[in-house]
Amino acid sequence: MTESLHASRDGIRRAATLLREGALVAFATETVYGLGADATNDSAVAAVFVAKDRPRFNPLICHYPDANTALADVVVSAAARRVAEAFWPGPLTLVLRRASRCSISLLASAGLDTLALRVPGHDVARSLLQQVGRPVAAPSANRSGRVSPTTAQHVQAELGGRIAAILDGGPCDVGVESTVLDLCSEQPKLLRAGGTTIEAIENLIGPVASYSGAPNSIRSPGMLASHYAPGLPVRMGATEVEKDEALLAFGSPLPGASLVFNLSDQGDLSEAASRLFAGLRMLDQNAPALGLIRVAAMPVPDHGIGRAINDRLRRASAPRPLKEDSCP
Ligand code: TXA
Ligand code: MG
Repeated sequence: MTESLHASRDGIRRAATLLREGALVAFATETVYGLGADATNDSAVAAVFVAKDRPRFNPLICHYPDANTALADVVVSAAARRVAEAFWPGPLTLVLRRASRCSISLLASAGLDTLALRVPGHDVARSLLQQVGRPVAAPSANRSGRVSPTTAQHVQAELGGRIAAILDGGPCDVGVESTVLDLCSEQPKLLRAGGTTIEAIENLIGPVASYSGAPNSIRSPGMLASHYAPGLPVRMGATEVEKDEALLAFGSPLPGASLVFNLSDQGDLSEAASRLFAGLRMLDQNAPALGLIRVAAMPVPDHGIGRAINDRLRRASAPRPLKEDSCP
């Protein structure tokens, strides 16, 4: 049985107790729901990989209540301090080298000598993290290879019965995962587009390199091409709808679709990001009964948070490996 907890004082206290005991608790953040475990507890971290069917080579993000606690676990550069000051709490994850005194389970960083850190900008997440008093490792609370959950109901559908509890903090505002920025070397590198725009980061620290490793390399394993694949394949940049397609609209919908989800009828990118995963789930659930086999996605401008939206749609349109674990 998975307990449903309200984000009341008692609910947060109960969630913190469970986490301290080594249990798995999903919780709301401003990006997507995370599946939390005490990051210093090897068996709790191992249980996260089992609950999600996540390949062991894909490391987890560690969540902290504030920047000072987070940066104490890594080797900090001046750039890291500036970025942390400007964007935390918020939808940004920094990858830095582990400090020698770092107590995070090696399993959480999948044996890498680096650590991904994040200070979420969500009140419920932050009071939970304060009460746990230890870093919390939390990947998105979905089964591996599926789209991230943005409501407690999505988490229940993905992981109900596999985890101790879900702390319901309502629907997530940002709706796409955090931006992942590698600051391990002189040249900052973008490992994943997300809730903090690359434009804002570049305004602060200058040019950021795009990830240029081999496809499916394990530099940031979540970059596997089909990592965010929903059930139905997605055709991007659609300018008309074919008769076997559902429509993921942006702005005025294209005519002729029997099933439509509009990300934002005003063409607002933030609204579109916050509705993206719920929209993909909705189309996925309703398409089969209508004989639809594909999602036609209308073009979304590729700037600001639109980059993260296009990145997730690109993954949903990529050819899928039969099983994620079979990737190199
Ligand atoms: O918004 C988010 O980031 C959400 C919420 C729950 O915080 N979490 C999330 O976690 O999206 P997950 O596990 O689904 O994605 C984490 C990404 C993966 O692409 C993973 O490979 C990458 O971060 N990552 C984690 N540790 C890393 C490391 N040491 N070096 C490079 N990439 C790392
Ligand atoms: Mg994920």
